[in-house]
Amino acid sequence: MELKYGMPQSLMGWVDANRSRLKPPVCNAAIFPDSDYIINMVGGPNTRTDFHDNPTEEIFYQIRGTAYLNIWDEGRFDRIDLHEGDIFLLPAHLIHSPQRPDPNGLCLLIEKPRPMGAHDALQWYCPKCASLVWRASKQLESLVDDLPKVYEIFYATTSEERTCKTCGTVHPGRDYAAWHAIRQAHA
Ligand SMILES: [Fe+2]
Repeated sequence: MELKYGMPQSLMGWVDANRSRLKPPVCNAAIFPDSDYIINMVGGPNTRTDFHDNPTEEIFYQIRGTAYLNIWDEGRFDRIDLHEGDIFLLPAHLIHSPQRPDPNGLCLLIEKPRPMGAHDALQWYCPKCASLVWRASKQLESLVDDLPKVYEIFYATTSEERTCKTCGTVHPGRDYAAWHAIRQAHA
């Protein structure tokens, strides 16, 4: 019997065989590439300053360790914690920024292929006043390949381009610790 995606397999066996792909800088690998679902394993450590607007829902299953999602909702930041063993269904368009500082963290993430015309957006917010500083949207074809290209464009912006038009704060770019420190100072 030939099965397109093979026989049932040990999930942790797959993790052991793909451990190097779950480490920085990518931290993310597809378990069944080219299937009708997008099924990824996400490792760590990884922290980031981008916020993701996904036109479809995302399922998080935090298998090991902890993680959290920074949330931007109606002009305010919030936070959702993922504890070990938690399952969480993220509604479409809830603007989120996953933080995985735990080097041993492991999360199964299931997404849907995006319908044609339903675009993903990556957004960067002012850590002081939560205004939008920079945004890019696109028809997402590959979760692993498409997003890093957008990050690089943002990381190459000048400090002038990253200056908040509302309050004048300079967004620190990819430096999450610096972004978080400014946010904490004004919380
Ligand atoms: Fe601002």
